[in-house]
Amino acid sequence: MSSEEETSQASSSSTPPPSSSPPAPSSHFIGKKDDIVKAGRVTKLVNGCRDVLVLYHQGQLHAMDMRCYHSGGTLQHGDIEEFNGRLCIVCPWHKYKITLAEGEGLYQAVDDPTARPLRTHWRSKGVKQRIHKITEVNGDVYVTLNDCAETIESDTYQTERYRSVPLKAQPKLKLSIQLDS
Ligand code: FES
Repeated sequence: MSSEEETSQASSSSTPPPSSSPPAPSSHFIGKKDDIVKAGRVTKLVNGCRDVLVLYHQGQLHAMDMRCYHSGGTLQHGDIEEFNGRLCIVCPWHKYKITLAEGEGLYQAVDDPTARPLRTHWRSKGVKQRIHKITEVNGDVYVTLNDCAETIESDTYQTERYRSVPLKAQPKLKLSIQLDS
């Protein structure tokens, strides 16, 4: 998809139906589906190398890199909203929108800034957040890491340097104080 391509209507992938076959050897156990549904969101270090967020929303499970591609924000605290028919997690740090199904960054574009009223469209910046595959077997939930060799921007925040940063920290807001002269 080109980086400027306008977003299409809902194209979210669906959670595969529960299976009784054994999980793939490359998959990693996350937890019991009932527990994840109850919690809504679960974070886990998968395979000792990747912090993954697994979330349950409207009957579906999704998995993605835990830290936002923009600046490492804590996606597990983000709201889920729909933009142009696509479900997105909204990063709590700077409100970037990331589609749950593909990990695309969405932005609002204005075709003609001189036209009134302004007409805006949701467009895609392309895949920015690494999305992982979810499998459910007999009520157990597994993640298979997305091993696409192409670099995805959220990879930046999967290094040891960022893993050791406390995730509760919010970026500090710059306060400008005007003093009366
Ligand atoms: S860190 Fe997520 S929007 Fe900036």
